[in-house]
Amino acid sequence: MLYDTLIRNALVIDGSNVPGYPADVAIRNGRIERIGDLHDATASETFDAAGRVLAPGFIDVHTHDDTVVIRQPQMLPKLSQGVTTVIVGNCGISASPVTLQGNPPDPMNLLGSAAAFVYPRFSDYREAVEAVRPTLNVAALVGHTALRSNHLDDLYRTATPSEISAMRTQLRESLEAGALGLSTGLAYASAFSAATDEVMQLSEELTAFGAVYTTHLRSEFEPVLEAMAEAFHIGRHATSPVIISHLKCAGVGNWGRSPQLLASLEAAAKNQAVGCDCYPYAASSSTLDLKQVTDAHRITITWSTPHPDVSGRDLIDIAAEWNLPLLDAARRLQPAGAVYYGMDENDVRRILAHPLTMVGSDGLPEDPFPHPRLWGAFPRVLGHFSRDVGLFALHTAVHKMTGLSAARFGLHDRGEIRPGNWADLVLFDPATVRDVADFSDPQQPAQGIEGVWINGVLSYRDGQANGQRAGRFLARQGDLRDNFR
Ligand code: ZN
Ligand code: CU
Repeated sequence: MLYDTLIRNALVIDGSNVPGYPADVAIRNGRIERIGDLHDATASETFDAAGRVLAPGFIDVHTHDDTVVIRQPQMLPKLSQGVTTVIVGNCGISASPVTLQGNPPDPMNLLGSAAAFVYPRFSDYREAVEAVRPTLNVAALVGHTALRSNHLDDLYRTATPSEISAMRTQLRESLEAGALGLSTGLAYASAFSAATDEVMQLSEELTAFGAVYTTHLRSEFEPVLEAMAEAFHIGRHATSPVIISHLKCAGVGNWGRSPQLLASLEAAAKNQAVGCDCYPYAASSSTLDLKQVTDAHRITITWSTPHPDVSGRDLIDIAAEWNLPLLDAARRLQPAGAVYYGMDENDVRRILAHPLTMVGSDGLPEDPFPHPRLWGAFPRVLGHFSRDVGLFALHTAVHKMTGLSAARFGLHDRGEIRPGNWADLVLFDPATVRDVADFSDPQQPAQGIEGVWINGVLSYRDGQANGQRAGRFLARQGDLRDNFR
């Protein structure tokens, strides 16, 4: 038998949360065909993977890569981490279906300027991804704030019945065209005024499709448990799976509460389909939010439209230079982006280690001085948290970014190394894999990622992208409620 590709002598960590085993892996026609001792087999291309781990390609369940997959289809920040699939449209903001009047409202501006929003229907976005054929696979959620911006003349109120019905129609059409589900960003001012009932009515569209509800909670600060209860309530109403985005205890006054959050998640999991994602850092990043301006922890400005020169500088230093209180300086910088050093490391570790937690980067690809999670989230979990800190076994780290994620989002025949699955694979050196990007130099590829295959096509090798673009648009498959426990 002549295969397309043979990867020999790898330690296969197959994504199912079991320890690795030595094996050869054969690929043909984009899929994994055989796993085992294949020393008699031949292939057009053979790789010796001795001392290396072969894992399923990483699935970044939480991204804002909606427009960058089209504008920069090489996707180097993710490809260089071993990511082979990105889920876009999180936190209530999506590139489609969107028809803007003027500039994108905060935080839709995280996805680009008005010129980036050219997908009035979800199917337009899907076709654009398919036409450009990015390096990575792309699956997409529909953002609640995006829907609101289409139909509300004022985002600082809840929607009227006719606006809700117009949003429902767009959501339904998007689900028919393959969207995974609905995301919300209820903490943001542009969605905060939406009553729970508005989201519940929208969520009713998810029911018939078995689609998912993901949410950037209404609060990640003191009222976080109430916000989780709201999310679970919406999920029960729609009988939809609920994924809490970037679960965290934000703000100094909230530190140490991760056991309460996880207890609430576990209690909900007894009665309904729930999960969460988490990025492996104790600092968050988004647009500059005046409500989050504080002197209790460090805040770095990552971009500012009126003051582009301040990117990478601390708000406190800018305020001192301008002789202004923090809040006034922040006002003068807007619109702007920021990194908030507002979490406690112990909370981050507890949440990341929880069995219901998937890894998602929440990277912000438009940012000129991005949070390092954009380039480093996945290798940081493998190298720093699994190998160096010993937070969990390597096969558990891999499971949190592959098998668990594929199951939750219904990405059938991906996320595990099994015969018949698509050959989304990453080869890495477990002794050296590490995130290099940090808060002072955030745009650096990881070390130790030696090969990345997407749909069987080698696309990254030894620190270099090779220009191959074999990614696909992944439409929702089946009823996502079947994928929990
Ligand atoms: Zn978010
Ligand atoms: Cu996000």
